[in-house]
Amino acid sequence: MQIVEVGAGIGSMLVRLLRWDILPANVHYTLVDEMEENIAFARQWLTEWASQNGFSVETPGANLRLSASKSARASAITVRFVQADVFDFIQTEAGFCYDLLIAHAFLDLLPMPASLVSLFSLLKPEGLAWLTINFDGLTSLEPALDPKLDALIEQLYHQSMDSRPSGGDSQSGRHLFGHLEQARAEIVSAGASDWVVYPHKGQYPADEAYFLHFILHFFETSLLNHPGLDPERFAGWLAGRRAQVERGELVYIAHQMDFLVKIVQLH
Ligand SMILES: C[S@@+](CC[C@H](N)C(=O)[O-])C[C@H]1O[C@@H](n2cnc3c(N)ncnc32)[C@H](O)[C@@H]1O
Repeated sequence: MQIVEVGAGIGSMLVRLLRWDILPANVHYTLVDEMEENIAFARQWLTEWASQNGFSVETPGANLRLSASKSARASAITVRFVQADVFDFIQTEAGFCYDLLIAHAFLDLLPMPASLVSLFSLLKPEGLAWLTINFDGLTSLEPALDPKLDALIEQLYHQSMDSRPSGGDSQSGRHLFGHLEQARAEIVSAGASDWVVYPHKGQYPADEAYFLHFILHFFETSLLNHPGLDPERFAGWLAGRRAQVERGELVYIAHQMDFLVKIVQLH
């Protein structure tokens, strides 16, 4: 089975699939990301994770080969690492046919609907695409700090996703229904996959505080010097939200959608 994951980051999805033990016996997994640091980290982390989790690891050429005897299903996974812009990668792979395309927390960064046709050209007829964590227009931070300012910041934050020069859509989840139809992909399944991050008795159980600080940093970089936002009020708002994280108070919800689709067009 040939799997390609685009915008794969540091390889978290492959580790997740290995943990779930759901891959078939022989898999070639191509992991594509444009950031050199991500690809370098993915290679190192996957090597370490696999050897600590019952896989024997070989490195034929630039690939990684993971073999597991204990595993219920996946026995041999060859991982290929590609550092490239996804559209350059698609050009070089012309005519290559993958069985499964994975894009996790990635499609909402791309120009739509044009990118879909391009991405789906990687697949065989009847191939599947698993398109997960597509942001869909709702960010909620609780408890409220200043309801009017909270609402303004949420609105501008979503607008910043819609106006990125490289593409993006703050309502990419719901819009995918139409875009997928246009791209002649059949929706096999769709559903919400929201992030709901909350403390328990004033404490976050795992790495939630780190994650929430990263989300607030993302707010900061997206809206810094925004003409519709008073810099001092914004700085005060960020400080207030960061203090809520430190006190184990902040609840964060992001509405997102997942899709599994089958490619019906012949190319
Ligand atoms: C939100 S992250 C998701 C990473 C990963 N899928 C995960 O869930 O952990 C988006 C990733 O897409 C990569 N990326 C953004 N634009 C890209 C492009 N045009 N081509 C390839 N990768 C890209 C970024 O480097 C980043 O790693």
